[in-house]
Amino acid sequence: MDNIKVSRMAISDLNEIKDVLLLDFDDFWSVSILETELINPNSKYIMAKINNKIVGFAGIWKAVDDVHITNIVTAKKFRRQNIGSVLLTNLIQMAKEEKGITSITLEVNSTNIPAQRLYEKFGFKVVGLRKKYYNNTEDAIIMTREL
Ligand SMILES: CC(C)(COP(=O)(O)OP(=O)(O)OC[C@H]1O[C@@H](n2cnc3c(N)ncnc32)[C@H](O)[C@@H]1OP(=O)(O)O)[C@@H](O)C(=O)NCCC(=O)NCCS
Repeated sequence: MDNIKVSRMAISDLNEIKDVLLLDFDDFWSVSILETELINPNSKYIMAKINNKIVGFAGIWKAVDDVHITNIVTAKKFRRQNIGSVLLTNLIQMAKEEKGITSITLEVNSTNIPAQRLYEKFGFKVVGLRKKYYNNTEDAIIMTREL
């Protein structure tokens, strides 16, 4: 899809999606966590729009020499249409533009195959495992890509 427009996401953009986060996006975060993230000075969020409607969003968090991907999600009805790839391409570019950053890292649920495939496609490699990271049951896979 070539009509995907990416821009910075602000707290005011949350109004459009806050009531449909669970239904349309299947997002694992509550509105309040997302609110906190959107005003966190160490975080940067972007959104993807099609026909002026938010169809995905993603964020990074800057540490000392590493950028951490905090979230990346595409609206359910728009999955497999390249939106996740467009968002991830933008996040990688944002990480490259940060001073002193050499790598980009994330945690992904070991059961989340679509996300793992997406990250692999963009050159992320598995570097570790956090046992029972999610709800004290599911493991998190740690993946990193050098910039
Ligand atoms: C992971 C997610 C963001 C991917 O978004 P998307 O817009 O569907 O991604 P794209 O269309 O750009 O797909 C890019 C690649 O990801 C992989 N992929 C995406 N969905 C997949 C699926 N259901 N099964 C296997 N691979 C998949 C493929 O390699 C795909 O490339 P291809 O279409 O050329 O085969 C989306 O599934 C999502 O929002 N999931 C719920 C939230 C989530 O789990 N986020 C990750 C948190 S770590």
